[in-house]
Amino acid sequence: MKNIPVVSISSLEDALAKTEEISEIFRSTGVLKLQGYSLNRLEQLMLVSKLGDIFSWNISTETVTNTPSPELVDLYVFMGGHSDDPHRGESIASDYVVDWHIEQVFYVDTFLAGFWNMYHIGYDDPKAGNTHFVDSSEIYDLLPAETKDFLEKAVVIWDKPIGPRQGFGPYYTKALDTNRVNGKITIRLEADGGCILPVSLHKFDGEDPTSEQSAYFDATLNNLKQELSTNKQIRYVQQWQEGDLIIVDLFRMYHAVTGGFKYGERQFHGTFTRPSGYTNNLYDSIEKL
Ligand SMILES: [Fe+2]
Repeated sequence: MKNIPVVSISSLEDALAKTEEISEIFRSTGVLKLQGYSLNRLEQLMLVSKLGDIFSWNISTETVTNTPSPELVDLYVFMGGHSDDPHRGESIASDYVVDWHIEQVFYVDTFLAGFWNMYHIGYDDPKAGNTHFVDSSEIYDLLPAETKDFLEKAVVIWDKPIGPRQGFGPYYTKALDTNRVNGKITIRLEADGGCILPVSLHKFDGEDPTSEQSAYFDATLNNLKQELSTNKQIRYVQQWQEGDLIIVDLFRMYHAVTGGFKYGERQFHGTFTRPSGYTNNLYDSIEKL
């Protein structure tokens, strides 16, 4: 298991003074935790906007200014926590209640960072409600050269197996991409239950794939799922304490959440960032790749 780097903060001002340190860890590790002071929603937005200047996010000091309105705070700082559904069934801490996934691969201007600021925990089990992270660049580095070469040439299709197509793709993406914050190659494949659309090989090296190539892709995807759920050496485990604020690079970090908590027992203020000037365009044609 890998330790999530911690940056201690005593106030918003202190956090703002440490943006360079925070940025450095964000680039290198892709996940970090602020501890010691609970930022309120407005303060959270101020911190995000300062970092947004550094990383060219849609939320920056230009878009937020020094005096954001309550409406702007509501727009950018949402209530989250995976426990907001009173009708959801019981879950247990040894299972994932949110399975391994990476965010929104179909969007041309996808999520870049997530801020999860946990302000209420109502459960006692230390294994409950944990968030697990794995850096897809680290998984990529562990792959055999043959698989790296294969994925380099792979274009995949995401499609709904049955029912109306409207609103459900098909979408086309490259299996690999480059993370702009550190130049490293990332795997951009949804892995499991986080995604409602099944994925398969669409083109290989610009051609229709052979059945062997399609089978090789399916096996690689299975290995990826296996690696995420079994390789604890590359896994970060966040056991939440009230007041923890996790900052995560959502372009590269797979994540999953363990169960064992009930409605209202796990509440955070969340913010997602996208590239500045982002569009809502989807990879709905191969020409957009
Ligand atoms: Fe997620």
